[in-house]
Amino acid sequence: MNEIDWSNLSFGYMKTDYNVRCKYANGAWGELEVHTDEQVTLHMAATCLHYGQEAFEGLKAFRGRDGKIRIFRMDENAKRLQSSCDGIAMAKLPVEKFEEAVVRAVKLNERFIPPYESGASLYIRPLLIGTSAQVGVKPAAEYEFILFVTPVGPYFKGGFQTTPFVVTRKYDRAAPLGTGIYKIGGNYAASLNAGEEAHRLGYSNVFYLDAKERKYIDECGAANFFGIKGNTYVTPKSTSILPSITNKSLMVLAEDLGLTVERRPIALEELDTFDEAGACGTAAVISPIERIDDLDNGKSYVFAKDGKPGPWCEKLYHKLRAIQYGDEPDTHGWVTVLD
Ligand code: PLP
Ligand code: COI
Repeated sequence: MNEIDWSNLSFGYMKTDYNVRCKYANGAWGELEVHTDEQVTLHMAATCLHYGQEAFEGLKAFRGRDGKIRIFRMDENAKRLQSSCDGIAMAKLPVEKFEEAVVRAVKLNERFIPPYESGASLYIRPLLIGTSAQVGVKPAAEYEFILFVTPVGPYFKGGFQTTPFVVTRKYDRAAPLGTGIYKIGGNYAASLNAGEEAHRLGYSNVFYLDAKERKYIDECGAANFFGIKGNTYVTPKSTSILPSITNKSLMVLAEDLGLTVERRPIALEELDTFDEAGACGTAAVISPIERIDDLDNGKSYVFAKDGKPGPWCEKLYHKLRAIQYGDEPDTHGWVTVLD
């Protein structure tokens, strides 16, 4: 293996040694299989190729200062994958099997887990697809679960620093009773043009409003939104956003740090009253928001006049990372430490 430049990893794909797979047929899941091949052979009429039967997850493993490997809240990802499978009529993988696959893949690819000092981590990408042939619009009878890992650096260039976001009214990511609450490929397909346009304009990400009234904040790209208003952590309540495990964790940490937590609809104009704002997710961790531009109305909501992350974003970021890397005790039982 060529030397990996751990400190300069981007959020991209790097081949690792093994992936783990499991097949569903005749109403039952088989045994986990370990593969070295990166390719997947599919029937050309597989439902994942035609009717979008595809769900995925994203979680991370971290190497601590003590050399131990820690996996963050994998039971939550297992449960969310089950919810996504329910959402698009796919067979659900049992939580224990998901966890077994995560642990197996992390251990088998241990040499790809970045060292503590690099601040990088091992991204774990499980996916589940409908594989049997179907031409009528119907769920598949057979499924495959695949899990690969890849070492990653920060999702946004530069890591923990503020970046500008832009509101879109040209695209909706998900409808109020649609599939926004599931982590399925279709939602990301629906977000690609909005994301590309935002990047072309120099923004790091796009800010979605609720699709019905275009009044409330939904989420930002592949991350949830939160704001800090005085001593309150505020995050949107919406039927079209992904229930982020990072956000769920930050809500607990915010309370631990003495903030009040509110989960409620947030009107776009209310951003004027926020002291800080951030995007949060497994890939994004906390990405502090410099400003949100509403180009249609010539308005900018500015959170970081000096360009620096605000104090609460900073505190929450360090608290979360300290738990993930094992620098602080895992008082909420979120971390699986591998032997
Ligand atoms: N929202 C969307 C659309 C996402 O893709 C992600 C990434 O997983 C998140 C939010 C954040 O979720 P989590 O914190 O569970 O990674
Ligand atoms: C994650 O944060 O895990 C994501 O899935 C974001 C993106 C890379 C899809």
